[in-house]
Amino acid sequence: MDVRPIAGSIGAEILGVDLARDLGDQGVVGAIRRAFLDHLVVFFRDQTLTSADFLRFAQSIGQPLDYPFVPGLDGFSVITPVVKRPDQTIAFGGNWHTDTTYFAEPPTATMLVARELPPTGGDTQFANLYLAYEALSDGMKALLAGLRSVSRSDKAEASRTREDRATAERTVLVADHPVVRTHPETGRKSLFVNLAHTAHFVGMTEAESMPILRYLFAHQVRPEFTCRFRWAPGSVALWDNRCTLHSAINDYNGHRREMHRITLAGDVPV
Ligand code: SIN
Repeated sequence: MDVRPIAGSIGAEILGVDLARDLGDQGVVGAIRRAFLDHLVVFFRDQTLTSADFLRFAQSIGQPLDYPFVPGLDGFSVITPVVKRPDQTIAFGGNWHTDTTYFAEPPTATMLVARELPPTGGDTQFANLYLAYEALSDGMKALLAGLRSVSRSDKAEASRTREDRATAERTVLVADHPVVRTHPETGRKSLFVNLAHTAHFVGMTEAESMPILRYLFAHQVRPEFTCRFRWAPGSVALWDNRCTLHSAINDYNGHRREMHRITLAGDVPV
């Protein structure tokens, strides 16, 4: 197994693993987990995975979860289809976010397998929230220490990226989390707010919170904290949802893109 970084600060491709066959080997699963913790998002290419194989891979890493806003595939309720049809202009996940931070226990990790892609475009970007935290001034770190923020599933930035907006706006999920989160496995601190779901700081109004949040949302995605992945059918990504943001680039109107997604159970951020 070979782990090759794809950018200076986040992301690595893992070569030499067949996810449909090699997972019986605890050494392989352990090495994938190590690379995932070190690089925050790992990618595999040319995988031939049925839905059952994809689910088995997910179960080798964690415990798959249902997603509240999009029904799962027939027979695989935890596999969420993420589809953009040629007649649609909205792309699910088409802005910077951490998945479902409106849960009290947001997912540990998310995985995607590419099933159908546009001829060009439809890449996904990822950002490293450890580096985003570490690059803040001591003054800003002191200001954020001890602050909590509220995530909402109906924040306009999130619901704008969903076709099923009516459902999303009827079922509103809300949770609050520390703005600076300590990773339970690596012990590193990350800047745990995101444009799509973070609405305001606990105990402050939106108007009071937004000037600082807007600064943090822009700071988190400085190019030097990011990588960009070009998918091909059979590509798989696995990212650490505790210390990353991602954004699906919506640059392929008129074409179809279909990804299958699984999120893995997480814990209460501290
Ligand atoms: C997502 O935000 O989970 C989807 C990302 C993508 O489709 O690239």
